[in-house]
Amino acid sequence: MKGVVLISGSGSNLQSLIDNANHIGLEIEAVISNKESAYGLERAQQANIPIHTINHQQFSSREEFDQILSQTIDQYQPEIIILAGFMRILTPEFTQKYTGKMFNIHPSLLPKFQGLNTHQRALDAGESEHGVSVHFVTDELDGGPIIAQSRVNVLADDSADSLAKRVLVEEHKLFPEVVHWFTQGRLTLKDSQAFLDGQAL
Ligand code: GAR
Repeated sequence: MKGVVLISGSGSNLQSLIDNANHIGLEIEAVISNKESAYGLERAQQANIPIHTINHQQFSSREEFDQILSQTIDQYQPEIIILAGFMRILTPEFTQKYTGKMFNIHPSLLPKFQGLNTHQRALDAGESEHGVSVHFVTDELDGGPIIAQSRVNVLADDSADSLAKRVLVEEHKLFPEVVHWFTQGRLTLKDSQAFLDGQAL
């Protein structure tokens, strides 16, 4: 299945998708970043994947940025759009266009800790468990139907960094697995609910 991956940073989730691409039936046609400095762009180049940078600061509105982003994505006619650490709020026009085929990974056990600094916030809240969620992207920021989660225990001496590292290990396993379900045609979105093999998740 042809896919486009959107990133803003280090791209370690992108790397796990690249490493698993054959196994999960994914052909990454392009990687798009809103930041020129994103290390993930180098990872894409190493893997001979075309890259695009669309600097959001050069646009006066979210709508204009999303329009160019959408045009860039559509060149590749992807069947799946993967947000792998893409740190932008998207307009409803954009999310609605790709409903049912756009996925995001978020480093918390949603609906807990939407937004930023999830690891520190989990520590501050005294959580005993933390983790990662993969969800369909809808209008609501970090709020679309949840597909799968992985949990880690919060340890007494955890810092935000140590927790983030353990969650990332889970992210790198979970995201390719969910993408695989979709490339196999097992995962669908119906009436704001995710289904795997016809069973509501
Ligand atoms: C990951 O932890 C991902 O879950 C998070 O950004 C990081 C990107 O790391 N995404 C979000 O916070 C989205 N709201 P990576 O660039 O190394 O994959």
